[in-house]
Amino acid sequence: MKVAFIGTGSMGSLLIEAFLRSGALHPHFICASNRSLQKAELLAKRHPGLRVTGSNAEAANGSQIVFLCVKPLDYPAVIQELAGVLDERQIVVSITSPVQIRMLEARIPSKVAKIIPSITHSALSGASLCIYGSRIQPEDRLLLEQLMSSISVPVAIRETETRIASDIASCGPAFIAFILQQWAEAAARHTGIGRAEAIVLGAEMLHGTGKLLTEGGFSPEELQRRVAVPGGVTAEGIAVLHSSLEHVFAGLIETTHRKYDEDLSKLDDLFGRRLLNGTADDEPD
Ligand SMILES: NC(=O)c1ccc[n+]([C@@H]2O[C@H](COP(=O)([O-])OP(=O)(O)OC[C@H]3O[C@@H](n4cnc5c(N)ncnc54)[C@H](OP(=O)(O)O)[C@@H]3O)[C@@H](O)[C@H]2O)c1
Repeated sequence: MKVAFIGTGSMGSLLIEAFLRSGALHPHFICASNRSLQKAELLAKRHPGLRVTGSNAEAANGSQIVFLCVKPLDYPAVIQELAGVLDERQIVVSITSPVQIRMLEARIPSKVAKIIPSITHSALSGASLCIYGSRIQPEDRLLLEQLMSSISVPVAIRETETRIASDIASCGPAFIAFILQQWAEAAARHTGIGRAEAIVLGAEMLHGTGKLLTEGGFSPEELQRRVAVPGGVTAEGIAVLHSSLEHVFAGLIETTHRKYDEDLSKLDDLFGRRLLNGTADDEPD
């Protein structure tokens, strides 16, 4: 199976390397293109056999799956370039949350899916969020989920849930890393423990907690019950978190959703403008 990656920045490279490491893909079956060719060439150097081209159309041509790994505002240009070479048998996978499946289905003949990955896939873990367009058949879904399960746990979601699910699965590692950083810095400031030591302890704790919540079958509530004996230190700590965090997550969700809506409206404008300048037989959204 030939797979193309358009855009080999942070996430494009991470996906390629994770698929290679997992053994799901072989370098000879990957073709990558990127605006500045050096990034893709570095990948080819590290993985002999991986094909690199400066032309997005050439990369996509003949590939069964085409991953689009560019930033949202680069989509209209990339889609315009690819529209002429894509056909109805190919599966195009967008990894970007604000680009809507309807925007892509209106402009390309291919089957369209949206799969939001996470940096955790570089450790062959974490959930990938899968949203399927109207042309995706059960066998396409199986193929995509088989591929994604080599580096992650694929979870099918509705497109309307994309933002909140991405907040947790994809932005989550950055949010949790920020909390750990704050915690370690406070620990160092208030107790004299080394910041680096506190981070090692915290990282191991996160690793173990994640395992308990996944393969260990614990719910968050059970986990708290097992650690926090009534009247003990943990219970006192949870009471502090309870009162301090009460409004934090509502504010976080409000902020990410506001930014998402802004991105969506920019994209609608941009796709609309591309249409006016480009393909004449398309209808604006
Ligand atoms: N980072 C994450 O954790 C994460 C998680 C989930 C989803 N995503 C999504 O993944 C997408 C990419 O993010 P990223 O972090 O990988 O960004 P990035 O590091 O900036 O990578 C984007 C790549 O796209 C290339 N590019 C731009 N226009 C192009 C074009 N016309 N043709 C070919 N290549 C082009 C860029 O090339 P240049 O080298 O020339 O700039 C760059 O290498 C975003 O939409 C983001 O929302 C990211």
